[in-house]
Amino acid sequence: MTTMLKLNRVTRTFGDGDSTITILDELSFEVKEGEFVAVLGPSGSGKSTFLSIAGALLTPTSGEVTINGRTLAGLNGRELSDLRLREIGFMFQSANLVPYLKVEEQLQFVARLAGMNKREARRRADELLERLGLRHRAGFYPEKLSGGEKQRAAIARAWMNQPSILLADEPTASLDAARGDTVVRMIANEVKAQRKAAVMVTHDERMLHYCDRVLHLQDGKLV
Ligand SMILES: Nc1ncnc2c1ncn2[C@@H]1O[C@H](COP(=O)(O)OP(=O)(O)O)[C@@H](O)[C@H]1O
Ligand SMILES: [Mg+2]
Repeated sequence: MTTMLKLNRVTRTFGDGDSTITILDELSFEVKEGEFVAVLGPSGSGKSTFLSIAGALLTPTSGEVTINGRTLAGLNGRELSDLRLREIGFMFQSANLVPYLKVEEQLQFVARLAGMNKREARRRADELLERLGLRHRAGFYPEKLSGGEKQRAAIARAWMNQPSILLADEPTASLDAARGDTVVRMIANEVKAQRKAAVMVTHDERMLHYCDRVLHLQDGKLV
């Protein structure tokens, strides 16, 4: 099966001189098409750093990141942001919706950034909102949504440009068990149905049965 995301001996340090701290230490990792991987680790272990590097938001101090066969070190700034926009869908702990855009507008906005025409963007937004049970919320502003609805809207937005890889940073942290379950099940379904890949960072052990593999971030490595 195709490898969609690969980190090869990635090290990331912060600070310099005597105060240098090594957060990721020659970490290697791979996700294949159709795989949903969970990464567990205590607060401060480097989970968000790992996800940011995997999603081309942060550059490693050393080591190599390859997304769909393209090694990031060879890309310029414009190619990088293009790759991020098309290949990666991000979800954060707080849904990070734009407060002054309606749900449907959030989705259309990212699609327009990626160069999709208006009609296609509208069609795809409708389809996604339907699939995620949010059609009745399309015209709502984020403040009118429940926590679970916000996270589902964030999934819809992350999937808008049909990225091949979804990266989710503690997507259930602000949700109760039932809502968290719905959100993670929807990620799992999409990964299987559309042959995508997903990596979810979490410390919520209740969600792990939806994942194909569970890794632990320990001493800067995934085990
Ligand atoms: N930009 C940064 N500058 C300095 N230290 C950082 C930076 N980002 C993260 N860190 C440190 O790296 C460690 C891991 O952070 P993070 O990846 O956010 O962990 P987690 O998501 O597992 O809680 C923390 O000790 C944090 O303080
Ligand atoms: Mg974090």
